[in-house]
Amino acid sequence: MLRVAIDGPGGTGKSTIAKAVAERLGLEYIDTGAMYRSIALKSIRKGVDAEDEPAVVDMLSDTVIDFNDNKVYLDGEDVSGIIRTNEISMAASTISKLGPVRAKVDEVSRRLASTKNVVMEGRDIGTAVIPDAEVKLFMTADSSVRAMRRYKQLLEQGKPADLDEIKEDIEKRDYQDSHREINPLKQADDAVFMDTSDMSIEENIDAVCELIANKTGRDV
Ligand code: DC
Repeated sequence: MLRVAIDGPGGTGKSTIAKAVAERLGLEYIDTGAMYRSIALKSIRKGVDAEDEPAVVDMLSDTVIDFNDNKVYLDGEDVSGIIRTNEISMAASTISKLGPVRAKVDEVSRRLASTKNVVMEGRDIGTAVIPDAEVKLFMTADSSVRAMRRYKQLLEQGKPADLDEIKEDIEKRDYQDSHREINPLKQADDAVFMDTSDMSIEENIDAVCELIANKTGRDV
């Protein structure tokens, strides 16, 4: 059994790295943030206030979330593309504070990790979702570096971008994710810390694969 848990704040490139590592090692990639994003999307579509716990619980009672083949499904609909907006990032961070929302995503995440070898990324994988994961990593990067990466990405996509605004949003979400009551973003005591501020994507992928090889004796 091989379960790789990667946690860290938003915009660190965790998804890119986790996906590439999963592909290289033949593991299943699970993006838990995408599941929180899907629930946030549904709350926006239905006009449910993300801070209104009873209303969110009611909405969850007929909500089915699944993650399969790098895609997230909300009530059977592939929403992988449309959840990647700034509005959904903030709404996901807000709705993820609620216990019943976390329980729902945790249940799906644990089920997936119990049947497959996985690279799972999020905020609380090593601390709460799979605390006994074989490899645990806490990945971060300076908020200015994260903002610049995002800024360049938006410009490349021909989308409008304001560097100061992006940095402000990143720091706001960092604060919210690490100060909530239930399973906040936090490095697990036994997780390896990795600052990726000065790493290229290739260097980062290599570093993670090397760590997995060292921890598990697996040839990568
Ligand atoms: O990784 P992401 O940016 O897609 O995550 C979106 C939000 O979901 C994040 O700001 C907080 C929440 N989240 C969480 O609370 N726990 C996780 N394991 C993953 C994401």
